Amino acid sequence: MLLTVENLSLSVPGHRILQDVSLEVGTGEAVGLVGESGSGKSTTARAVLQLVPDGAQTSGSISVCGHSPADPDSCRAIRTEHAAMIFQDPRSSLNPVRRIGDSATERLVHVHGVPKAEATRRLVDLMAEVGLRDPENLLRRYPHQLSGGMLQRVVIAAALSTDPKVLLADEATSALDVTTQAEVLALLRRLRRERELAVLFITHDLLLAGAFCDRVYVMKDGSIVDEQPGKTVFVDPANPYTKALADATPRLPEREPRHA
Ligand SMILES: Nc1ncnc2c1ncn2[C@@H]1O[C@H](COP(=O)(O)OP(=O)(O)OP(=O)(O)O)[C@@H](O)[C@H]1O
Ligand SMILES: [Mg+2]
Repeated sequence: MLLTVENLSLSVPGHRILQDVSLEVGTGEAVGLVGESGSGKSTTARAVLQLVPDGAQTSGSISVCGHSPADPDSCRAIRTEHAAMIFQDPRSSLNPVRRIGDSATERLVHVHGVPKAEATRRLVDLMAEVGLRDPENLLRRYPHQLSGGMLQRVVIAAALSTDPKVLLADEATSALDVTTQAEVLALLRRLRRERELAVLFITHDLLLAGAFCDRVYVMKDGSIVDEQPGKTVFVDPANPYTKALADATPRLPEREPRHA
């Protein structure tokens, strides 16, 4: 397994956020983490990079490509080499007063030692792949000059540019229109195959998780309450909470049969 979380519990003073969360994602696998707002999805993904709230107490263990984020040297290696995270709010991961090109190539240039021109070329290629037109021009702009959907695609390209083995995608496609979402998911599918990328795909959308993921974990109030194959997560789930989520998911209405 490239990513393993075992019995992760996390609390801040007066509030338990995660309780005994266990999950795993294998090579080339896409695994969904689905649940309503506040169920602990982002907290789980951020803990993989040791980004925990101030004063948090944690127990349990996490392994990314065999490294534990609890160890400072391993944590650095996880953040820079093994894993990349697409954060839920793309604006929070880009410095508002720096040009997008400088922020988005920072990890490649300063951590991986890739020359700036080469880093820019890699980013431009990936930006084109996630459907951004005229990437060179976009790289000279500032975050406030781009729409939320454009920024989301920039951070997806930046996350993929360092060639991670584990991708933590936190609502990565939620701000995108349906067509762009389909393009980005197709890109992630291809990268999963080609680079054997392990994807933890966080979403509140059970339908999307079922369509994109091999397996889906369902999270409620800080705990994993169900695990299902993606293909069948909608087929009469036995778990009452998964069933409630499935029933609450809007689907296209059945078409009336056509009469000749
Ligand atoms: N830094 C923090 N300090 C205290 N509580 C926090 C902190 N970060 C998150 N929480 C609490 O932890 C719980 C889980 O939050 P989290 O952001 O992980 O949920 P989520 O499932 O990602 O929700 P959403 O779908 O809205 O993104 C929430 O009750 C939230 O208020
Ligand atoms: Mg979240």
